[in-house]
Amino acid sequence: MSNDTTTATADAGTPLRDAVPGTALLEVEGLTKHFPIYGGFPVKRRVGAVQAVDGIDLAVHEGESFGLVGESGCGKSTTGRLLTRLLEPTGGRITYNGQDITHAGRKQLAPIRSEIQMIFQDPYSSLNPRQTVGSIIGGPMEINGMNPPGGREMRVRELLETVGLNPEHYNRFPHEFSGGQRQRIGVARALALEPKLIVADEPVSALDVSIQAQVVNLLQNLQRELGIAFLFIAHDLAVVRHFSQRVAVMYLGKIVEVGDRDSIYNRPRHPYTHALLSAVPEATVTAARDGEGRERIRLAGDVPSPINPPSGCRFRTRCWKAQDRCAKEEPPLIRLGGNREGHLTACHFPEEPTTAAREEDVILDPALLAAEKGTGAGSAGPVGKVDR
Ligand SMILES: Nc1ncnc2c1ncn2[C@@H]1O[C@H](COP(=O)(O)OP(=O)(O)OP(=O)(O)O)[C@@H](O)[C@H]1O
Ligand code: SF4
Ligand SMILES: [Mg+2]
Repeated sequence: MSNDTTTATADAGTPLRDAVPGTALLEVEGLTKHFPIYGGFPVKRRVGAVQAVDGIDLAVHEGESFGLVGESGCGKSTTGRLLTRLLEPTGGRITYNGQDITHAGRKQLAPIRSEIQMIFQDPYSSLNPRQTVGSIIGGPMEINGMNPPGGREMRVRELLETVGLNPEHYNRFPHEFSGGQRQRIGVARALALEPKLIVADEPVSALDVSIQAQVVNLLQNLQRELGIAFLFIAHDLAVVRHFSQRVAVMYLGKIVEVGDRDSIYNRPRHPYTHALLSAVPEATVTAARDGEGRERIRLAGDVPSPINPPSGCRFRTRCWKAQDRCAKEEPPLIRLGGNREGHLTACHFPEEPTTAAREEDVILDPALLAAEKGTGAGSAGPVGKVDR
């Protein structure tokens, strides 16, 4: 592990939106979503807020596949719903194709809605069980007044073929399909309006492992062949590895690290990215590390509540490198010395840009540490390391 005294040195405070060449299709600046919490009796009043997304900057370029990764509850789905404007932002700015859509109304959004589509996590609940596949995929075309050459039915049959389903199944209902096939129907529905951007919110996490790769391959082929930009949301880095040219790592409503695929997987700087990488199954990591031994970080303990997040760096309650400064100052998301262009990290004491073997496991949960040492809970302190 790198020296704990290594401090962050910024080459430049390059904002993410300027750091990547090409035309930004979707840009997000300071995007925030706080869900209000009401309490009190007899008069209910606002007593706090869930800070689900708290000031993130993002840019997805035309035809690009961008991965967004983080643990459960860190705000990934909320981000996806904000970008597709299924949710109203509390603050910040969303620009699509140069147009400010942050608080756009139904009328302004109408032409954009067809260009930004979403694929949902659960292929069971996201399809109407009472509609045939033909109506599910053809419905959006009808609503948007799309009349493809040859008619809508022919186009739906074509789309079924594109996603690897039998066009003869046009009149079948969702329950007649397996989970993987249903997700393919969801993909065909998203493609029906010829979108420029698809937000795929954990599109394979509800599927059997053996089916996951098939659906990821399908999405990857579509992305390449049709040039559609993707925001691919996942909770582990393994899934987005082969799919995304750039990856952002999110923790408790903030983006803590973002960069091109090679920087994130082979030259990560943020301790949380290291921890997530160490959770990636061995087989998928070792090849990328040129034979180096793999890190073993056990990121135990829960993510703190987004209602009352830790001061300063939000990761500090689980970070093995935390120092006083981390509680006082929020680390800015900047390009550190040693980072490539477009690789930004939010950490005061970053790791060296390598994934070389660690000397020890890092265990972040006192109860887990006590169990490892057999010393009884509570004696270990807040953060600990165990020699192998
Ligand atoms: N409508 C809502 N009202 C109040 N809180 C919400 C609402 N939607 C989400 N949250 C909270 O916002 C936080 C972020 O939720 P979100 O669903 O975006 O996380 P996620 O990263 O997608 O998690 P997962 O991996 O489990 O899907 C969570 O604490 C969640 O409880
Ligand atoms: S607590 Fe945050 S800022 Fe401090 S070392 Fe850890 S990740 Fe970096
Ligand atoms: Mg989610």
